[in-house]
Amino acid sequence: MSSTTSSEQRAAELRRLLDYHLYRYHVLDEPEISDGEYDALFDELVALEEADPELVDPDSPTRRVGATPSDRFQKVEHLSPMGSLEKVTTDEALAKWAEDVRKRLDSDEPVVFVTEPKIDGSAVSLVYEEGVFVRGATRGDGRRGEDVSVNLKTIRAISLRMQLPPGERPPPVLEVRGEVYLPLSGFRKLNERLVAEGKKVAPNPRNAAAGSLRQLDPRVTGSRPLAIWVHGMGHHRGLPATGHWNALEWLRERGFRTNPHAARHETIESVASACHLWETRRAELDYEIDGLVVKVDSFDQQRRLGALHERPRWARAFKWAPMSAETPLLAINIRVGRTGALNPWASLEPVEVGGVTVSTATLHNEEDINRKDIRVGDVVRVQRAGDVIPQVVGPVLPHAPGTSPFRMPARCPLCDAEVVKPEGEAMHRCPNRACPSRGLETLIHWVGGALDIEGVGEQLVRRLWSEGLVRSLPGLYRLTTAQLEELQGYGTISAAKAIESIERSKEQPFRRVLLGLNIPQVGWVTAAALASHFGTAERLAAASPEEIQEVDGVGPDRAEAIAEWFSDDENRGLVEELRSLGLRLEVGEEERPKEGPLTGRTYVLTGTLEGYTREDARAALEALGAKVADSVSRKTTGLIAGEGGGSKLSKAQKAGVPVLGEAELRALLGG
Ligand code: IVH
Repeated sequence: MSSTTSSEQRAAELRRLLDYHLYRYHVLDEPEISDGEYDALFDELVALEEADPELVDPDSPTRRVGATPSDRFQKVEHLSPMGSLEKVTTDEALAKWAEDVRKRLDSDEPVVFVTEPKIDGSAVSLVYEEGVFVRGATRGDGRRGEDVSVNLKTIRAISLRMQLPPGERPPPVLEVRGEVYLPLSGFRKLNERLVAEGKKVAPNPRNAAAGSLRQLDPRVTGSRPLAIWVHGMGHHRGLPATGHWNALEWLRERGFRTNPHAARHETIESVASACHLWETRRAELDYEIDGLVVKVDSFDQQRRLGALHERPRWARAFKWAPMSAETPLLAINIRVGRTGALNPWASLEPVEVGGVTVSTATLHNEEDINRKDIRVGDVVRVQRAGDVIPQVVGPVLPHAPGTSPFRMPARCPLCDAEVVKPEGEAMHRCPNRACPSRGLETLIHWVGGALDIEGVGEQLVRRLWSEGLVRSLPGLYRLTTAQLEELQGYGTISAAKAIESIERSKEQPFRRVLLGLNIPQVGWVTAAALASHFGTAERLAAASPEEIQEVDGVGPDRAEAIAEWFSDDENRGLVEELRSLGLRLEVGEEERPKEGPLTGRTYVLTGTLEGYTREDARAALEALGAKVADSVSRKTTGLIAGEGGGSKLSKAQKAGVPVLGEAELRALLGG
């Protein structure tokens, strides 16, 4: 009894601590403890909750991820409608609006304005009851949205519980409004990953954020670094704030992430200056904004001004021109990627787009260039979408005489091998595996996305390559401080630091090494799945395509490509050499799944069980060493079916996979 009470107390304490440190980290951006210390607290709570499922509470920080996928989202009515904003684009229109506000208020009282960045993300409403997050929804049509609570819970910048000052009672109901967004750094990483996995890239951060929020599997949402800026309240009653500025402060003090660039203005001229200032400063932010929102501060004035067609008369969006510009296209150049793909890119007369000077832009492939009819010598429109590499939209004037449609070179610009265009693919490729570009691009990928070597970036790798100091992955690990010091700009300290980072990368897990090897069709997800399935490079190298296909998510083509890569002597040699240099070519002890009586068995869960939630059943099986997969395959030891098994049940019956009921599950778990 007393031990239950003490673990209960400790669990509550841990939850409070974890919430507090998440808030320090994600809202205030001022962490007090290291990631390692945070993980230790988190693991302690997981252990307590696993030992006693009674302790689990739905707001526990451990519940942020891992909920089971839903089939679709429930529609929910917002407590008060989520309106939209009328836009203005000029100082004159802004001044006219301020004049109208003054007239409608019909008195000489002062009007104070608040400006804040207009975040280009996805609008959400968050409902807190008695200070606890109970539901969150997308905007939908403004009256009814979709209940995406499980996904919102994966966003660490969203408080699951308000941080109330000591002694303060939480409001019975509070609806908070905000914008969920994907930071540009996260957007770039997401697209890199999608490209590596051969999937469609997200066109801009707004689509990526909206799409991430509407994922049916919250684990996918949880894997995207989404964040939020809270910018107001919907339904609220009895709060002390008298205006928007106070309300933002009140929210900030209670743990909500409000934007630090909000500002208060006494005159509309000051508002206009802020709008222009931020048009040039927006490139400094790690998120997209497409203007400033201007709000009348006083709640009393807001109420008197009211709304027209659900557009408040007390607010306007000051929007900037889209981030595009026109400029001459000087040349189309080719970069050969690490897989041999020939990527065309545009060299442009430098031009300013949204506060950034642009002189290069991506062009996807020959077909795309010709579909848009882009020719060297044209004046083209370039567009920046979310601070990613600018894109060429198309020509803006008729072609000048003497220009001609673009043709891919017949030979690789680097090694002169004859270029091929495989059937059904959009990209031209250099088939020469010894082409120098591949080595260089593989190195860039290795130090960047794959092994993430701090302080060693693309620029340094290019210099090392052109100086002939490093021409292969193993070569990187043979680089000496003395050699680095010979490069201009490298002193003893910076050289030693770089070498130390390279050394440290030997501790990176096997899955990252696999990713860095540049095996065709192996992106993040596949690399991780291969690593955990085979455990060692040796076993993976010895596997047949059929065996590789047994890995979750690996189809016949990919399995074939992976096996082929490992059947090449040179590639095997590379793996061996990396091993002898000290890189990890097997899964580390800490990453290994738990050993237990069910090790080696794989179960699939379906339908509704009476005594367990899907997550509890999964956790209990995994704790005994079993694997729990999402779909039935030849490797499935058994399907555990509750009420309403559906398609998995018929698939298992067809495949002759044993079907177990709840009683058998209970027996498996030791009663
Ligand atoms: S206040 C009545 N503040 O812009 C709506 N909205 O067209 C009042 N947005 O979907 C909204 N940043 O989600 C407000 N700082 C901000 C905003 C913001 C982005 C979005 C909002 C809405 C759209 C309005």
